[in-house]
Amino acid sequence: MFNESNGILSMPKKIIKTGDGSPSLYIDQLNETYHSKHGAITESDYVYIKKGFAYWLDLNNQRAPRVFEMGLGTGLNAYLSYVFALDRKVLCEYVSVEKYPLSIDEVQSLGMKDALPSPEHHHFFDQLHEVDWGQNLSQSDFVFKKLEQDFFSVALDQSFDILFYDAFGYHAQSEMWQEKALQKCYDLLQPGGVWVSYCAKGSVRRCLEKIGFSVERLEGPPGKREMLRAIK
Ligand SMILES: C[S@@+](CC[C@H](N)C(=O)[O-])C[C@H]1O[C@@H](n2cnc3c(N)ncnc32)[C@H](O)[C@@H]1O
Repeated sequence: MFNESNGILSMPKKIIKTGDGSPSLYIDQLNETYHSKHGAITESDYVYIKKGFAYWLDLNNQRAPRVFEMGLGTGLNAYLSYVFALDRKVLCEYVSVEKYPLSIDEVQSLGMKDALPSPEHHHFFDQLHEVDWGQNLSQSDFVFKKLEQDFFSVALDQSFDILFYDAFGYHAQSEMWQEKALQKCYDLLQPGGVWVSYCAKGSVRRCLEKIGFSVERLEGPPGKREMLRAIK
């Protein structure tokens, strides 16, 4: 179990190849990966883009969304969101928080870019890693900002329409799946906002309901029976 004394930042990370051929990172000390072993890109695309971003856009007649991501990690969700927003021709503001940033060397060694779809947009993947923390990166109606902060203390003056909750799993970081963190998610969202995660744990579903979300159990990505989506 993770605690603050064994900072994730300094933990060795091993590159793994996932089921769809795309890479991810594995942290031995947490027994945890950054993405599903069954397919990193497949999972991100299914959970966050299809069941989160696309779902919200369809409900809201293509209105311009504000997206918040908990855990920038490799930048995969941010990149897929950029490509998706361009494809659907919507303006999008995307804010991602990360407490334990990967170094540029770690990102480059991972080789995620080689596996990403839409090579014509790969420059955005480089840019999102190169841009300074706290600075806006504006590209084709997509405004991206990453914050090097702890999710628990991040303070933002606007609320969000879509929240990608991509924390490490319960066994690695249980505090991310308990009431304090989930209440923070609720507070960050607009009424009608959509919270989405690969997680399907019963205690998380019940806690989301207790806080006031309407929660759906959806079919999961490959290798996972279910996932959760919650509406404020
Ligand atoms: C499952 S990985 C996210 C993968 C990422 N979304 C991607 O597309 O590659 C979880 C991420 O959350 C970050 N994290 C863990 N605890 C955090 C916290 N308290 N605040 C902000 N980020 C945190 C980790 O450093 C890690 O990058």
